[in-house]
Amino acid sequence: MDLGLRGRVAIVGGGSKGLGRACADSLAQEGANLVICSRNADDLDRAAAEIRDTAGVDVLTVPGDLTLLEDIQTLVRRTVEHFGRLDVLVNNSGGPPAGRAADTTEEVWHQAIDMALLFFIRMSRESVPHMKNGGWGRIVNILASSVFQPIDNLVTSGVTRMGAVAYAKSLSDEVGRDNILVNNVAPGYLLTGRMMHIFETRSQDTGAKVEDLLQAQSATIPVGRLGRPEELGDLVAFLSSEKNSYTTGSTILVDGGVVRSVM
Ligand SMILES: NC(=O)c1ccc[n+]([C@@H]2O[C@H](COP(=O)([O-])OP(=O)(O)OC[C@H]3O[C@@H](n4cnc5c(N)ncnc54)[C@H](OP(=O)(O)O)[C@@H]3O)[C@@H](O)[C@H]2O)c1
Repeated sequence: MDLGLRGRVAIVGGGSKGLGRACADSLAQEGANLVICSRNADDLDRAAAEIRDTAGVDVLTVPGDLTLLEDIQTLVRRTVEHFGRLDVLVNNSGGPPAGRAADTTEEVWHQAIDMALLFFIRMSRESVPHMKNGGWGRIVNILASSVFQPIDNLVTSGVTRMGAVAYAKSLSDEVGRDNILVNNVAPGYLLTGRMMHIFETRSQDTGAKVEDLLQAQSATIPVGRLGRPEELGDLVAFLSSEKNSYTTGSTILVDGGVVRSVM
């Protein structure tokens, strides 16, 4: 299936590693030109070179901290200066800091809100005018399974990302007639650097081996394993494409069935 992405321009946040990198790879394989952003410029340049080599697309790198409004504005401005258009926005960044409901501090809440709520709002608000100019747009937000069920010690994720779901639904109402579709994907346990770090920390805390912890986690997942980043990347590429023409305002789990919610 040709997704109709050839020549389109996509911004991918956190595009140097993990889920963002997987989304960038899937979009590039479909012929989309990319703008990738993350804080470490060396990692970003390395990822851009690999993507150019394998997919032959144009990749612009814009280093920046996506918790900051100024860096988001620079990212969108440089995209439009370089390519003259913006068609696809994959809103992905680092996760919010850990926190429990009863005692998360004011400072941590502010960090979480910048990182996992205002980030999605700011990226969309800065980008939608350019999508309207082009008469077409697709926005995909990378959230977490915490929008379906709580994750221990991550109340920050559930609270901020539920806000992002509400925002995406309102935005999808407002921009549907401009041919702009807005969706969310919610990963469960996909094996990225961040996910490995979570298991390594758990191993240090408990004394259990990382392999044993991964095996125990796999046993809780109906498909019997953790996910691969590209399993999310390919869905994001579809949602970002011409072939997605009627799904908007939706939140789709990529979790191997681990979430117990029936909807
Ligand atoms: N992996 C999963 O299964 C899973 C499950 C649920 C939710 N998620 C969520 O999905 C997102 C991506 O997770 P991941 O597993 O792919 O993480 P990852 O492997 O750590 O990759 C994160 C990417 O985002 C960049 N990044 C982090 N903070 C940033 C910031 N403030 N500004 C700009 N770029 C930033 C990182 O580069 P720099 O560090 O150089 O900036 C890196 O490129 C996170 O929000 C995470 O909470 C993931």
